Amino acid sequence: MRDFLVAGNWKMNGSTASNAELVAGIVAGAPTSGSVKVLICPPFPYLSTVVAQVAGSSVAVGAQTVSEHEAGAFTGEVAPAMLRDIGCEYVIVGHSERRALYGETSFAVAAKFKAALDAGLKPILCVGETLEQRESGSTESVVEVQLGAVIDKVGIAGFATGVVAYEPVWAIGTGMTASPQQAQDVHRHIRNVMAGHDADIAAATQILYGGSMKGENAAGLLAMPDIDGGLIGGASLKAADFLAIAAAAAQG
Ligand code: PGA
Repeated sequence: MRDFLVAGNWKMNGSTASNAELVAGIVAGAPTSGSVKVLICPPFPYLSTVVAQVAGSSVAVGAQTVSEHEAGAFTGEVAPAMLRDIGCEYVIVGHSERRALYGETSFAVAAKFKAALDAGLKPILCVGETLEQRESGSTESVVEVQLGAVIDKVGIAGFATGVVAYEPVWAIGTGMTASPQQAQDVHRHIRNVMAGHDADIAAATQILYGGSMKGENAAGLLAMPDIDGGLIGGASLKAADFLAIAAAAAQG
C-alpha cells in the first residue's frame, strides 16, 4: 500500500514574515497519521530557515528546481548537493512553468532528475499535457515522452526513490481541476507504462495529482486508486487550505 504525499509548491511567493506564519500553521496542523507525509517547497532563499522551523516535526522540505550540474561555473544555479547539505529531502523537476517559461526540455529535466538522485534527493517529476494536446487526443503520448526521457536516463529504478506528479497544464492555477476520473485515467496510464519496465516499482511509486487541487475537490481525487497525493500551488499558501487537503488524504 502506498502512502500519500501532500506537497506544497509555493512557487515565487512568500516573505520571511509570511513564511514563518504559514510554516507554524502547517507544523501545528499536519496529520499525525503515518500514511500521510506533508512536504513544503519554498523558494531557494528561504529553504534553510524553513528547514530549521520544521525541525522535529514530520514536515519535509524540498526545492522547486535544481541544476543538473554538480558544481562549478554556473552562475545563478543551485547544485543538488547544496540542497541536500541544507536539509532538503525532495526537489521538484520539470514543472510545466519551468518547461514553458525557461525552455527546459524533457532531456534537461531527465538530467536534473538524475543529478538529484545522485545527490541523495527524492526528485518529483512533473508531467502533463496542455489543453491543445488534450483536445487533440495526445495526452497519453505526451506524458509517455516526458516519463520516457527520465526512464531512458536513469532506468525505471530511479522511481524506487523518485515520485511522479501528473499536472495537466490547463488545470494549473486556472481553477479548472481535472475530474477524478480524468486524472485517474492518466495516472493509471503512467503506472501501466512504468509496469512495462518493472511491476514492483510501478506499484510502489507515488503518483501525485496537481492542478487547482483544494480542500473541496481533494477527497474525490485522492479516493481514486492511482492518485497518491497532490502537488498544490495556490492552496498551499494558506495553512488552513493546505491542511484541508492533508486531512482529506488522512481519511483516504
Ligand atoms: P495550482 O498549482 O494548485 O495553483 O493549480 C499546482 C502546481 O503548479 O504545482
